[in-house]
Amino acid sequence: MKKNDIYRSIKNYNHLGRSSFHTPAHKNNSLLNQNLSLSEDITELPDTDDLYTPTSCIDISEKKATKFYETKKTIFSAGGNTLCIQTMLKLVCNAKVNHIMFSRNIHRSVINTMALLNIIPHWILPQKYLNSNYPYYINPEEILSIFKKNENIKAVFITSPDYYGNILNIKEISEVCKQFSVPLLVDNAHGSHLICIDKNSHPINQGASLVADSIHKTLPSLTGSALLHITDDKLIPYAKYSMSMFGSTSPSFLILSSIDLCIDWIAKNGHNEFKKLLEKVNLIKKTANKKGILYKSKCSDPARITLDTSNIGYTGDEFRKHLHKFKVEPEYCGKKYSVFIPSPLNADIDFERLQNAVLNLTPKEKVLEDKEYHFKIPTTASHTVRNAVLSEFVTVSVNNSIGKCASRAVAPCPPGIPLLIPGEIIQEEERSLLINYGISEVDVLK
Ligand SMILES: Cc1ncc(COP(=O)(O)O)c(C=O)c1O
Repeated sequence: MKKNDIYRSIKNYNHLGRSSFHTPAHKNNSLLNQNLSLSEDITELPDTDDLYTPTSCIDISEKKATKFYETKKTIFSAGGNTLCIQTMLKLVCNAKVNHIMFSRNIHRSVINTMALLNIIPHWILPQKYLNSNYPYYINPEEILSIFKKNENIKAVFITSPDYYGNILNIKEISEVCKQFSVPLLVDNAHGSHLICIDKNSHPINQGASLVADSIHKTLPSLTGSALLHITDDKLIPYAKYSMSMFGSTSPSFLILSSIDLCIDWIAKNGHNEFKKLLEKVNLIKKTANKKGILYKSKCSDPARITLDTSNIGYTGDEFRKHLHKFKVEPEYCGKKYSVFIPSPLNADIDFERLQNAVLNLTPKEKVLEDKEYHFKIPTTASHTVRNAVLSEFVTVSVNNSIGKCASRAVAPCPPGIPLLIPGEIIQEEERSLLINYGISEVDVLK
């Protein structure tokens, strides 16, 4: 394939005319196209306000969002959910070592923030993860027992929904957090649109103190747009300064304007548009179910389409090639699972193509062996995440890594459950998991 620069590669990709089932969810629809242009790419001026100390238009837009979400405060990020995650964690940390409980399925931006803020993680592994017949679940008793053993836990951080659409039992988790007066932080990167489906299923209405919404993933706004919701008054005075510590001093006003338009769209059309979307999604799910490839989970995002093609003999690469024949581009095709992110801004032709692609998928004779997704938390850590990340490292073969300390996270995404976090020691079990996952080299401390 001819190698091109960024601009020409994107042009070439767009020229293929594939239906987008990946982010961003605006799907190049006229909604944003008609309303945004380079003239909104502007800087901080007396007329345009300042994101980190807003007093005029940004303040008005954020107040509009706060009113819509009924939070104590909702603030805008032009640095994606990554910036919201950094801000959330900064808000619960201080200058000392910070003990925080995390569900093990975290995005790499969370691991990086652990290093920046000197966070010591205490892990909870979601149960029955990826077992298609069971909910994705954290046992509140497990949280309770970690709280009892560690009085200095400052916050609990969970990811819900995950990439495949599994939703955690947030309400139960938040009740335990409340008993201990500890804030619950939710990375809702994949669930911003839940507000349009059922208001109560959004984590802000399930007892979370801080929630990060990566709105560009599932709602019509530009890549890089995100919201940070605050439901605890005490945290508000520190929020803007905390965000400014990690964000660019030149946030994109094009992105900020797209957040404004997106919130107007959600308030006016969100509920109806998602109702219509779910009808289209359900048709595709029905066909996928008949084919035996629908990934099912008892508590999941109704708008996410996750397919398991391994049980009809297709690798991710083979399935992607098949989809391309029908002019469909998925969000992700892995060894086992493929993920599609549909949006109300997709055109009808997009759903027709996906439906045809699924209908015309002929099962192969041989089912693929499932040898991935067996995760565990390594038993030993010799360094803090911060020390491990800031130390010198060497790259070694996984087969020669036993007894060594990881200096970088190994977190194949998806499923986004890190096999190794910086500071953890590689033992035989970790070595064989890495090999199983097709990883042959690992960065370890010198
Ligand atoms: C679970 C999760 N959290 C956070 C992020 C980071 O979001 P953003 O790309 O908006 O910075 C992602 C991105 O893929 C994610 O999947």
